[in-house]
Amino acid sequence: MSVCGVDIGNLTSTVALARRRGVDVILNKESKRETPSMVNFDEKQRFMGTDASAKVMMNPKNTVSQLKRIIGRSFNEPDFAEEVKNLPFSVTPGPDNEPLINVTYLGQPAQFSPQRCLAMQMADLKLIAEADQGSKVTDVVVGVPAFFNEKQRRAMLDATRIAGFNCLRLMNETTATALAYGIFRTDLPEDNPQHVMFVDMGHASLQVCVVAFKKGQLKVLSQAFDRNFGGRDIDAAVFHHIAAEFKEKYGSKGVDVSQNARAAMRLNNEIEKVKKILSINPEAPLNVECLMNDVDCSTKLTREKLEELAVSTFDRFLTPIKTALADAGLRPDEISEVEVVGAASRTPCLVRTLEEFFGKQVARHLNATEAVSRGCALQCAMLSPAFRVREFDVQDVTPYSIAFRWDKVAAGADEGADDAAAGAADGNSVTSVLFPKGNVLPSEKMITFFRSEPFAVECLYADPSQLSAGIPQQISKFEIGKFPVPDGSDKAKLKVKVRLNLHGVVSLDSVQTVVEVEEADPAAAAAPTSENGDKMETDAASGAPAADAGGEAPMEADAGAAAAEAPKKKKKVRREDVAYNAATTGMNAADLQGAMEKEYDMAMTDRIQEETKDKKNELEAYIYSMRNKLCDTYTEYVTEGDKSSFNSKLDSMEDWLYEDGEDETKGVYVQKIGELKAIGDPIEERYNEAASRPEVASNLQAVCKRFTEMATGSDAAYAHIEQGDKDKVTKECADALMWLQDKLAQQESNAKTAAPVVFTADINRKRETVERFCQPIMSKPKPAPPKEEPKPAATEEKPAAEGDAPMETEGGEAKEGMETANDLD
Ligand SMILES: Nc1ncnc2c1ncn2[C@@H]1O[C@H](COP(=O)(O)OP(=O)(O)OP(=O)(O)O)[C@@H](O)[C@H]1O
Ligand SMILES: [Mg+2]
Repeated sequence: MSVCGVDIGNLTSTVALARRRGVDVILNKESKRETPSMVNFDEKQRFMGTDASAKVMMNPKNTVSQLKRIIGRSFNEPDFAEEVKNLPFSVTPGPDNEPLINVTYLGQPAQFSPQRCLAMQMADLKLIAEADQGSKVTDVVVGVPAFFNEKQRRAMLDATRIAGFNCLRLMNETTATALAYGIFRTDLPEDNPQHVMFVDMGHASLQVCVVAFKKGQLKVLSQAFDRNFGGRDIDAAVFHHIAAEFKEKYGSKGVDVSQNARAAMRLNNEIEKVKKILSINPEAPLNVECLMNDVDCSTKLTREKLEELAVSTFDRFLTPIKTALADAGLRPDEISEVEVVGAASRTPCLVRTLEEFFGKQVARHLNATEAVSRGCALQCAMLSPAFRVREFDVQDVTPYSIAFRWDKVAAGADEGADDAAAGAADGNSVTSVLFPKGNVLPSEKMITFFRSEPFAVECLYADPSQLSAGIPQQISKFEIGKFPVPDGSDKAKLKVKVRLNLHGVVSLDSVQTVVEVEEADPAAAAAPTSENGDKMETDAASGAPAADAGGEAPMEADAGAAAAEAPKKKKKVRREDVAYNAATTGMNAADLQGAMEKEYDMAMTDRIQEETKDKKNELEAYIYSMRNKLCDTYTEYVTEGDKSSFNSKLDSMEDWLYEDGEDETKGVYVQKIGELKAIGDPIEERYNEAASRPEVASNLQAVCKRFTEMATGSDAAYAHIEQGDKDKVTKECADALMWLQDKLAQQESNAKTAAPVVFTADINRKRETVERFCQPIMSKPKPAPPKEEPKPAATEEKPAAEGDAPMETEGGEAKEGMETANDLD
């Protein structure tokens, strides 16, 4: 049993499994812990991860990456439209300005939503986990940047569903990191919390959060971020400088990377490598062979120069750090530790800036690229009923203030949220902030309405300044109604329950009409019941004559008693569900189902392709190996004529493989392997039989020798066995040895190129027969010695006294519970 944590990075992704013995980050098939976040669309299949990154240079237009920057975004966001221009693949606006990714797949133009592409990446991580676990892995917690808005979160959830996961939580990446940091700490204070800042410097964004830790608890105090600051910005700053230098140096030979997307990509890759070297060394060479027009380009970069070039990006670095501190209401000296994660945290200049600001060294308790997936796997284990994990309360918060808005009713009805500050009335509408920034997740709120007609409630971001440009303020809209208005009243009372769930997504949980009714207290008036029991009680309570109950009950008598003793009334609240329609940003059920089916089909195509390649490789490998063995290992076991015709068959099969058979189906390769094996297997068999025959023959001989010695020797251990039985054993062994000798002699005169006379399986069977015959005879137990008279009391065994029970009994040793509270400690 295992549950999964996934960190989808902009550059690389990791998957971790929580199992009984702890949390492991899982190696992909290249034995790497990090898998490139890429999907390549090819002529016959898709490639993921490392396979996709191997294709990006050759086929950049069909290799999709940076999906975390695309999912849940819209062309209405100016910075998104700008970002898309720099992508090597095509992203165009679809319906409602939603992005669509354009590629060529299976030789045809194809369009995919970012949800589907990200699901492909997730499904690949799922396969990596399942290959390691050896069984299906379904439950997952997926890390998302804390700044992901509702639309991005819902899109991410849709991607998990398409990938076949059951997402128990979308977890803010910094909170997952905090959990991975805190759950194993045994020194957390009981009372005064310890404040730790987490700084995650990734490829495309910077996230900061301040967390208060106490024993068994983490509480997020604040979150801040720069959505557009990451390691790639340092690469970009250096890229412009080096591109200009190369143009100046090699421009006369036609080098200008701004004119060639592939050259630009290769230069960028090289810069990223050099940047990593400069994190350790003061300078590094930068060489790109045949960058453009077969020109080798080279230069040298120093760390000093890199820092000078990227200084403008570094300037932004402290802004979210200061914001997080201010929002948490803490001074730098009140932060006991600054834990840095994300691979870009290896940039010396960024670390130096942090250390200067806080006046102390940063901490690196966690693995910079694995903390998020580990934290997610831990959270998944905590949420899964199959695990027991050490009690640890995770209190995360929303970084955005979320409000609800509805039309004001004319009369001053006392509408509004039950436990939120009164809503602000604006013209014809009321807006009430139900989940302010910093509100704990999950959280529920109730809003009361007095209405006679269907109405709408809108969910929106309360503070547009918290959003990046172009993000619509409205999150979702709920149309409520129709509903019954109680008799004698002009309005129904409605309770609307809204929830900010664990994923950080707002949903409408229920809408109910609430009617207060007075009912007879059943203890005071045991009114008869009928099918319409409620109504009967109500009628009786109101003093109305009881309805005809078929004339069986003495109704008059009861009614008379009720009249004499004024019936006691009890207030009761009746609630009835009201239908509503939710307009949210996620995919609708039909589209989601369609996407899941398409993903299944594509995965099947990939699998068949992989199996076809495996079979093709198997055929090729068979040809090579058989050709070698025919003139080497198997040479004695095949006649010259057969060897020559088999060799020609292998040659023609090889020619076919590289010509007509280059691109065949799995079935054809399987059939061709069969054709060759029909010839090759008998040769292989003759060789294998000859190679193993001496050993199995000597095993049979040894067995016969052993039993013969037992039966004919003078060993006292077998003295009790009857001579007749011993003779049978001796005969069985002698017959078996005779049989073997005869077969081996025939085999000796048989040509090595002919089918064996005796098979090793026959010899083994003979040995088993001998053992089955002789063993029961030779292991007959000795007869029991004659019984002795019981000895006097002195030797009598003392009955075990009470309390003398053995210290250890079969069931006496306490077995450890299958699941203990520290299972994942
Ligand atoms: N040794 C290093 N020195 C400096 N930068 C590095 C080093 N190693 C990796 N990086 C940079 O770190 C960034 C990748 O960080 P990380 O793997 O944490 O990102 P990610 O999780 O894929 O993306 P994100 O968190 O933005 O979604 C890249 O820009 C990479 O160049
Ligand atoms: Mg990351």
